[in-house]
Order: sequence, then structure tokens, then C-alpha cells
Amino acid sequence: QAHTQRRLWTTARFKESFPKREVNAHKGNHGRGLIIGGSDPMPGSVLMTTKAALRTGSGLLTTASVKNVISMIAGNNPEAMYIAVPEADGCIAGINHIDLSDYDAVAVGIGLGRKEATAKAIFPALLTFEGPVILDADGLYHLKSYLTDFESRQAPLIVTPHPGELAALMDISVPELLIEPFRYSAAFAKRYHCYLVLKGKHTIITDPDGNQTVESSGNPGLAKGGSGDVLTGMILAMVMQSETIFAGINNACFLHGKSADLLVQEKHSEQDLLAGDVIQGIPEAIRTFS
Ligand code: APR
Ligand code: MG
Repeated sequence: QAHTQRRLWTTARFKESFPKREVNAHKGNHGRGLIIGGSDPMPGSVLMTTKAALRTGSGLLTTASVKNVISMIAGNNPEAMYIAVPEADGCIAGINHIDLSDYDAVAVGIGLGRKEATAKAIFPALLTFEGPVILDADGLYHLKSYLTDFESRQAPLIVTPHPGELAALMDISVPELLIEPFRYSAAFAKRYHCYLVLKGKHTIITDPDGNQTVESSGNPGLAKGGSGDVLTGMILAMVMQSETIFAGINNACFLHGKSADLLVQEKHSEQDLLAGDVIQGIPEAIRTFS
């Protein structure tokens, strides 16, 4: 433990590592991202992930989902591309016609549902994908069955659980986890060689070596369904644009919290703030802090 670091992710660190766009930038410089998620019962969450990834600067973004979900979100997000995948009972049942190597990073799990067949259709391809994989929500539920497979995967893995999701992955209770969240986070990140974002009032971000940062921005207005789905889209976009994965994750968490803080100071309250507002607040957060 002695040689690992633990510190706050400050505005200064955000400023020095936030990606600058070259004047000759083209869309290919800023990442080709893929989001796999959504199901008939949960169409809205992947909409927010898609919108948040666009707003955070993803160069090219594709969302793969079932056709009902795509018809719901495409009109709202014309900047993204869409792939309708085979489905069973309103859930994703195959991604065979998607070549993951066309993408720089993939985010999986939002609104996916918990059917075993859905995981079987997606996870084997993730194991051979050579870029960063971000797992959230139901993707973390399914990860439990694939943990040993992920141990031998070399490419970066980023997991973004709230305490309930991490406790379930580690077979401990939430109160147990919350007594020593730093220690459990480090143990999990080192064991599975992943980046871990343990979300909460103070989000703890751990790299595969056990180095840790704490995010101090954000407020209880974020304690609402959907704000985690927004963060996943932001992480996808920032990871593709940043010098290091660790900086990308930290900067996404920073902007997410700062967006909520500015909105609550200026025009919203913690009560009425919605996840969708947090997406709309991203531009001001970027303008204020970068
Ligand atoms: N202060 C600051 N930030 C907060 C606070 C708080 N009090 N509460 C939550 N947040 C932030 C977290 O740090 C995280 O970025 O809001 C986000 C919440 O993410 P999730 O917990 O993933 O929430 P989300 O998935 O959007 O919605 C909750 O997930 O597992 C399901 O059953 C759960 O229906 C619930 C849903
Ligand atoms: Mg969540």
C-alpha cells in the first residue's frame, strides 16, 4: 500500500488533463464509441447514455439496441448512429453482425436486463475486444458470471458500480463495503486488473495498481434514477479522448458532478434536478472549468 497514491481530483488536475481539440481535428480523432444496452422495458436509460456521450465530445457514436429502443431515441439524437440487433422478449439476443474492432471503446449494460441469454450474446465478444470496455448497471450484474474470464483479458476494463453493485460482485454486504470502501475498491481493482469507479456522495476511482482519487463535486440532486447512466456515457466519451484512461475517468466524474453543482447553484434545486438536466449542464461545466 505504501507506494500507491490517494488524492483529490482537483480543478487544476482537470484543467491540465482535459483534452484540447487540435484546429485540424476531425471526427476520427475523438473516438469511435459503441454503446450496447437498452431493452423494451428500459428504453430511457440508454437514451441518456447516448446523449451524454455525444455532449461530452465523442467523435462518432453508435448505439446498438433492440428496434423499439432505437425508434424511441434516434429522432432525439440524430448525431448518433444506430444498429438494431436481434432480440428475444424485448431484450438483446445477438450482436454477431457487429465488428467490435470498428470501435475504440465499448460501454455495455445500461437498461440491458438480466436475462442470461443477453449476456451470452454479448460477453464472449467483449472478452476478445482489444479496446476499453466499460461495464455498468446490468452489465455489472452479468459480470459476476464472467469474472474469471475477465481475469485473463489484457485490454482495459472499467467498472462503475454503486455500492450495492460492488457489494454483490464481492459477496459482501453494503454496510461492510462502506466501512472500508477504499480497501475493498483497491482489492477488487488489483485482483481483476480493472479501473473501478465506486459511485456515491464521494466517488472513489481506483486504477489497476490501487492508486486512488476522490471526486468531491456533485450533490444529492444526483441521487436519482438515470444519473449513473449519464455518467457512463461521459466516461465512454472522455476515455476515448484522454491521454490516459485514469484521467479520462476522473475528468468525466468531475464534469458530471460540476454540471450538477452549477445547475443547483443557478437554476435548479436538488429536488427538481433530473439526469437529463445534468446532460444539458455539461457545456457550462466545460466552459467554466477547462
Ligand atoms: N451526492 C453526490 N453525488 C451523488 C449522490 C450524492 N448524494 N447520490 C448519487 N450521486 C451520484 C453518484 O456518484 C453517481 O454518479 O449519482 C450517480 C448515481 O449513479 P447510480 O447509482 O448508478 O444511479 P442510477 O443507475 O442512475 O439510478 C439508480 O440504479 O441499480 C439501480 O436500483 C438502482 O434504480 C436504481 C438505479
Ligand atoms: Mg446505475
